[in-house]
Amino acid sequence: MNILVTGGAGYIGSHCVKMLLNEGHEVTVIDNLSTGYKQAVDVRANFYNEDIMNSESVIDILQSNNIESVIHFAAFSLVGESMKEPLKYYYNNVYGTQKLLEALISVGVKNIIFSSTAAVYGEQTVMPITEDTLETPTNTYGETKLAMEKMMKWADKAHGIKYIALRYFNVAGAFHTGEIGEAHNPETHLIPLILQVPNNQREHINIFGTDYETRDGTCVRDYIHIEDLINAHILAMNHLKETNISDYFNLGSGEGYSVLEMIQAARKVTNHPIKAIESERRSGDPAELIASSEKAQRILKWKRVHTNIEDIISSAWRYHNINKEGYND
Ligand code: UFG
Repeated sequence: MNILVTGGAGYIGSHCVKMLLNEGHEVTVIDNLSTGYKQAVDVRANFYNEDIMNSESVIDILQSNNIESVIHFAAFSLVGESMKEPLKYYYNNVYGTQKLLEALISVGVKNIIFSSTAAVYGEQTVMPITEDTLETPTNTYGETKLAMEKMMKWADKAHGIKYIALRYFNVAGAFHTGEIGEAHNPETHLIPLILQVPNNQREHINIFGTDYETRDGTCVRDYIHIEDLINAHILAMNHLKETNISDYFNLGSGEGYSVLEMIQAARKVTNHPIKAIESERRSGDPAELIASSEKAQRILKWKRVHTNIEDIISSAWRYHNINKEGYND
């Protein structure tokens, strides 16, 4: 199939591009490199350094590459930043999606798989979170992703654009070869930050809050391996082609690990003492987020391969060992 991946130079997008190519698809990437890296994009893909807001170019790219399906990752995704600069998030995420949908409608591309987030659920007390849980985002990032989902729902009703929104919990790990992985600048995510300690790039890891109502007082998250996550996108894309039914799914493991447990697992994997310092809570962090992915398992026939947290951390460690400085281009 001829597939367009927006945001294909980012952490999740670049893994999707590589795995689609490995399955024999023709892959076209649009990325404005505002947070992604050209180096992360597989050389077999047709790469365009372009903005999804630039309708004329997007229409041209859709037509010249005979695009049949779109996987849409291009968005800002930092919770903390979204609280400081909410309008930047509305513009890039919501208006950017509007421009993309307009381009798709104008050339008649009708299928879109879309990256959403657990942040649409906000703070919840009942775990695991199912797709029936009421969405109550507590940050601008989650709010914009929910707005993007709703925009697609109405675009479906009016224009027959079919979509599947995938609500990710905490995506982790790297491609099994260690060629590409998770590297942001600045880094804010727990696993890459923990691994900077054994890589001698930071002296210690801060534990953001030790007084949460969880088993050890630190936040609990549901970590899902990047390759399992991308497999769900491929299944979703095929499912959408077959059924032509719009839908949305959680993607997580159904298991929660606390920050302390993650640090302990990283100590085992790296064989390094990894110094940890108890710090203040980070504002906006829910105490616990655990997904029910029963719907994706049942309908998409999705099955995780990476079920062991140490394996997930090991795959991240392999990448960070080979690429200590992350990407430079
Ligand atoms: N944490 C620390 N120390 C650090 C960094 C993080 O203790 O130095 C903690 C956080 O407080 C949190 C956990 O580790 O409890 C995980 O933090 P991340 O920043 O890695 O991930 P988040 O759970 O905050 O966010 C992730 C994605 C978001 C998405 C969100 C959905 O990065 O894009 O899940 O809930 F919106």
